[in-house]
Amino acid sequence: MGTQNAFKPAPAWYRGQRWEELSLGARLNLAFQAAREELPTHLPSKELWENREFYAQTLDVLCGHFATPVLDEVLDVGGGHGLISLLWLAHGTAQRATIVDHYEPHSHRLLLAKFLSVVDFEPPTYLHQRLEDVTLLRLPERSAILGVHCCGRLTDAVIDLALQMRRPFAVLPCCHGAKERDKEFLAMLKAIAHRKGISFFDAYDFLRLGRAWAAGWKVYFTSISPTVSPRNNVLIGLPPKDMAERGAEGKTVDKGTRSGRP
Ligand SMILES: C[S@@+](CC[C@H](N)C(=O)[O-])C[C@H]1O[C@@H](n2cnc3c(N)ncnc32)[C@H](O)[C@@H]1O
Repeated sequence: MGTQNAFKPAPAWYRGQRWEELSLGARLNLAFQAAREELPTHLPSKELWENREFYAQTLDVLCGHFATPVLDEVLDVGGGHGLISLLWLAHGTAQRATIVDHYEPHSHRLLLAKFLSVVDFEPPTYLHQRLEDVTLLRLPERSAILGVHCCGRLTDAVIDLALQMRRPFAVLPCCHGAKERDKEFLAMLKAIAHRKGISFFDAYDFLRLGRAWAAGWKVYFTSISPTVSPRNNVLIGLPPKDMAERGAEGKTVDKGTRSGRP
């Protein structure tokens, strides 16, 4: 899948041999390691592996939904270092990416530079805002909304946004946050999950998917390897086809008018 972006000759940071024989994936792994070595703060290698696995688990479903090898855009909510955007762009499977995160860590610029030293792509747009403060978002029809380890209620906000914009979503939740009115219900869910010997996190993630399913969406529940991350559920939602067709190219969503959770 994807278009072949132009490969570049061996970058100055590469210490090995026969660069031209390495796959794109191998080159990007090395670019990640090269970025890590220059960072003043520690960037765990699991960051790359969980984003790579999430990318691999979601690529075919999201592109397949539009019967295209390349999405027009991915919206990466809570992107932080932006690795999921960089993987979509570097592999030529998204033409554009927008990251929404009020805090841009140093690692983003460095990872971007190192990935660009391997392969050409259009750098992502970084919106330095909280998702709730973004008032207008435009997404072309063939786009997807992504959330990798969006803490607390941010995963739910990603699903809310996708339902509102009628764009596919894929999330790798890490935890949950509760509004005051949710607390009693969540305590009950936790107690029942414990009594039945099932995972509270899995039960909660099924609820998240259930919201999209109840709205008529196609949903998928899959996972990345637990050895990469214990928070490994992958939730994917695809809007009904007629919904996507109704969504205009360059649709504008005024997030100020968003409704709450159903
Ligand atoms: C655990 S990090 C995940 C970073 C990255 N997606 C990854 O793969 O590791 C969660 C990110 O969400 C961002 N974040 C938290 N609340 C947010 C909000 N309301 N809107 C946008 N970003 C938010 C944080 O700044 C942080 O970078």
